[in-house]
Amino acid sequence: MSRKQIAAANWKMNLTLQQGEQLLNEIINKPHEISENQLVIFSVPAPYLQMAQQKIADKKGVFIAAQNCFNKKNGAYTGEISVEMLNSLGIQFVVLGHSERREYFNESNSFLAEKINICLENNIQPIFCCGEPLSVRESNTQNEYVAKQLKESLYHLSADQLLKVVIAYEPIWAIGTGKTATSDQAQEMHAFIRKDLANVYGNDIANSISILYGGSVKAANAVEIFSQPDVDGGLVGGASLIADEFVAIINALQ
Ligand code: 13P
Repeated sequence: MSRKQIAAANWKMNLTLQQGEQLLNEIINKPHEISENQLVIFSVPAPYLQMAQQKIADKKGVFIAAQNCFNKKNGAYTGEISVEMLNSLGIQFVVLGHSERREYFNESNSFLAEKINICLENNIQPIFCCGEPLSVRESNTQNEYVAKQLKESLYHLSADQLLKVVIAYEPIWAIGTGKTATSDQAQEMHAFIRKDLANVYGNDIANSISILYGGSVKAANAVEIFSQPDVDGGLVGGASLIADEFVAIINALQ
């Protein structure tokens, strides 16, 4: 996949089926141009994947993502979601390594590396989340922290595999807090991530990876954040649950 500008909604554990269906209807029926270099992705709760997939079936540049999947092919893992299941629904993306999964479900970098592998082996593109907690930002060691997440979960991949990964930088202190990173802070970290990728895979590969910013993105700040040269769109929580907000965020893509 060449570098795309991406507006990705992360509904997290919100909405009923009926509310989700209505929200999708409102967003996809609003006029917005999705150009060749842009994608819109809705990461919806697992029970709504099929509904959402059917709804966007004929929409060019629009995709549905799962919010998680397991690192095993199949078997006695009650409650988990396999990549085979996602394949059978036609799902092509999955969000992995969200800070909420790292925090509440103890997902480690090495466990995430296994999930990344099984996704790529089965043609599912991971949206890999990374980002530091407030204490790390306050001690100004965020670059080292994020570099470790990238190294331990991604850098075993071949260049061809890496090209299928979308990276989302989500500083934990900016998630759901209304406290957005400034566009300079976002650009600084995105440039660092791209340089780190370039050190391992070279400039061409690094310049082909989409790096999204996540953390209190809304209509009012999306244009400024997305205009940064190393920011290729956003992974949006709260504001993606409001049709007008998310449509404005889609329209803010460069
Ligand atoms: P908010 O946009 O609600 O801050 O959430 C960001 C996020 O976690 C997206 O994955």
